[in-house]
Amino acid sequence: MIAVRRLDADGLAARLPALADILHACVEDGASVGFLLPFTAAEAAAFWRETVLPPLAARKRRLLVAEAQGRLAGTVQLLHDTPPNQPHRAEVAKLLVHPDHRRRGLARALMAAVEAEARALGRTLLTLDTRTGDAAEPLYAALGFAAAGVLPGWCLDPRTRQPDATTFMYKPL
Ligand SMILES: CC(C)(COP(=O)(O)OP(=O)(O)OC[C@H]1O[C@@H](n2cnc3c(N)ncnc32)[C@H](O)[C@@H]1OP(=O)(O)O)[C@@H](O)C(=O)NCCC(=O)NCCS
Repeated sequence: MIAVRRLDADGLAARLPALADILHACVEDGASVGFLLPFTAAEAAAFWRETVLPPLAARKRRLLVAEAQGRLAGTVQLLHDTPPNQPHRAEVAKLLVHPDHRRRGLARALMAAVEAEARALGRTLLTLDTRTGDAAEPLYAALGFAAAGVLPGWCLDPRTRQPDATTFMYKPL
């Protein structure tokens, strides 16, 4: 049983250890989501506290979490603080599912919910980026995202620090 819900700033503060654990486990597992290894639990907690909490409190982004059997196991964010000339667009970011809970539909459920959030905000274009060749790429394609293009050398592999390409994707709603 998967349950997806939205967290406000207080909700994030209350669930910060579980969210930090998900981010930490994903990065340790090799996910390319903005960080390099070694990556400590304290750095994972700092991401939620310093990078996510302020814009969440300012209502500039939305945070969704997925629980499986009552345990918080996945998360995604919608960045909707767009410039005046992009009021119709929002960005999907930090889709993370704990490695122990993969391939059970959590990401699919989170993406359906984040799309619903975007629609509710009146957004008609979703954008995102993902390391080329990662598991997320076929997931997004299966959910109707098209690839706008591939940018070589956009980011570094968290373990080897070799440059990796990133695929930029979009979905009109
Ligand atoms: C990408 C990620 C979020 C997928 O989460 P998940 O909960 O395992 O995904 P789901 O179970 O909802 O999978 C839905 C569909 O996506 C595709 N998919 C998911 N993982 C896949 C994989 N490893 N290989 C190929 N396709 C995959 C499949 O089509 C799958 O449907 P199926 O299981 O019926 O075949 C997860 O692997 C993850 O957290 N990775 C690390 C962080 C990351 O890279 N996030 C994306 C940042 S842009």
